[in-house]
Amino acid sequence: MKQSIFILLIFLWGNLVNAQPEIIPKPSQLQTAPGEFTLGVKTTISAPVDNQWGKVAEMLSSRLTMATGNKIKTVVGKGNISFEVSKDAMLGEEGYHLMANKKGVVIRAQTAKGAFYGMQTLLQLLPAEVYSAKAVSGVKWTVPFVTVKDVPRYGYRGLMLDVGRHYMPVEFIKKFIDLLAMHKQNQFHWHLTDDQGWRIEIKKYPLLTQIGSIRHETMKGHYTDNKYDGTPYGGFYTQDEIRDVLKYAADRYVNVIPEIELPGHALAALASYPNLGNNPDRIYKVGTKWGVYDDVFMPREETLKFLEDVLTEVIDLFPSKYIHIGGDECPKTQWEESRFAQDLIKKENLKDAHGLQSYVIKRIDKFVTSKGRRIIGWDEILEGGLSPNATVMSWRGTEGGITAAKENHDVIMTPTTHVYLDYYQADPKTVKQPVSIGGHLEISKTYSFEPTPEVLSPEQSRHILGVQGNLWTEYVKTPAYAEYMLFPRGIAVAEIGWSTKENKNYEDFSKRLEVHKKRLDYLGVNYFGAPINDQFEYVWPVKKNVK
Ligand code: ACM
Repeated sequence: MKQSIFILLIFLWGNLVNAQPEIIPKPSQLQTAPGEFTLGVKTTISAPVDNQWGKVAEMLSSRLTMATGNKIKTVVGKGNISFEVSKDAMLGEEGYHLMANKKGVVIRAQTAKGAFYGMQTLLQLLPAEVYSAKAVSGVKWTVPFVTVKDVPRYGYRGLMLDVGRHYMPVEFIKKFIDLLAMHKQNQFHWHLTDDQGWRIEIKKYPLLTQIGSIRHETMKGHYTDNKYDGTPYGGFYTQDEIRDVLKYAADRYVNVIPEIELPGHALAALASYPNLGNNPDRIYKVGTKWGVYDDVFMPREETLKFLEDVLTEVIDLFPSKYIHIGGDECPKTQWEESRFAQDLIKKENLKDAHGLQSYVIKRIDKFVTSKGRRIIGWDEILEGGLSPNATVMSWRGTEGGITAAKENHDVIMTPTTHVYLDYYQADPKTVKQPVSIGGHLEISKTYSFEPTPEVLSPEQSRHILGVQGNLWTEYVKTPAYAEYMLFPRGIAVAEIGWSTKENKNYEDFSKRLEVHKKRLDYLGVNYFGAPINDQFEYVWPVKKNVK
């Protein structure tokens, strides 16, 4: 009997020693050793004397101080938690080494960005309470002895948030950025304009926000119900607010890619400036229905000048190398019927209206490139011929991305099949969820996505920059609802983007995710399945799906 208890204890101890910390995204290499380092009142943090590195150390100091209730200071000289510059070129711009042993924690990286990601891993090595916004007592603040070497699989790892259909307040945008950074995602694609709302202040064209940011009502229930709430809806970001968000994002190593939709999804702009549309005499109204409108920009010279002016202000505001110019879902009906458009097709020797779309994108590409930036467009920009410097965002499956990569264009994978986070995340016929656009995309399917298609050669595969999850917000009216749709699926997207193919394992991810949810609870994230998420108008049972 005694012997069997002894064997059991040995077994349990072995399991404890070998238990892998629940880090998401999973690091490339991680070894544990018996023992742990405990943070206490005397713990200090140090970093190389440099503004960027100093900010990372300060961020860690403020989080540890807030959660532990002990002032965990930054110091000159070597602290118990020490950020150091690494000479290991293999770490690249974003990788890091982290070692925790009895002396403390050392995080080495080539850049402050790598150090920042090392810090994210350190936080996940600590108890979940470290994410608390107020001091938690009775916690033993331990870091298990580990050696981590970690580099990302892809350079582009992001999420898109549509604020055209529903405006999201700046406070939430910052929380969203925090959550991206926590999961080592480095791109926030901010979908700022659409038929149902223009959400960015443009100084030269004030009507874009005075008129274009407000629709007179919004659809109620599902699209197929065809009901409206009769209440005006609006909101936009001033340029000062945007600058504030950009500073916040830069401090967290998140690049913000603005999207200005063209030549389609333009109704809010046309409602503001009807001269940009097919019929300058028409009274265009900001869209109230979801879906795609025939009202698109008419590519007259004055329209192209308007778009260049808007993009000039956007480029002045956003430091991003990439500027997203939309390009999706542009019906050609009005161009087919327009004398002007047909004459332009002839004059420019274009094949048809698709050629005209390509003409517009090429003009815009040339302009954006002349400003030292690069365009991204949805995969419809392939139609009628791809513009020379365009990066393609492949959303209607991966085929557009494959074609673009074969033509030596860069690609970001974001297919509806796996990473459209506006779809139901469980079967809507059996699991109660708030009304959504439709579809059915479970986290296991999201996780199974492989961004680099096997049909591509190694050379072509280099054009797959990474992966992004998209949240369209037709039905997503509030930040709480946005969090519900984004998480935890967005975390699966983060792991696809960061972790090695060999380390990808859904069962293992699910186990880590269960622990990770406690961290999200401390951060007040309203993920699907969270204890706090019972605050929606549920539609039950869901009768009709359109997508
Ligand atoms: C898209 O979902 N229309 C890019």
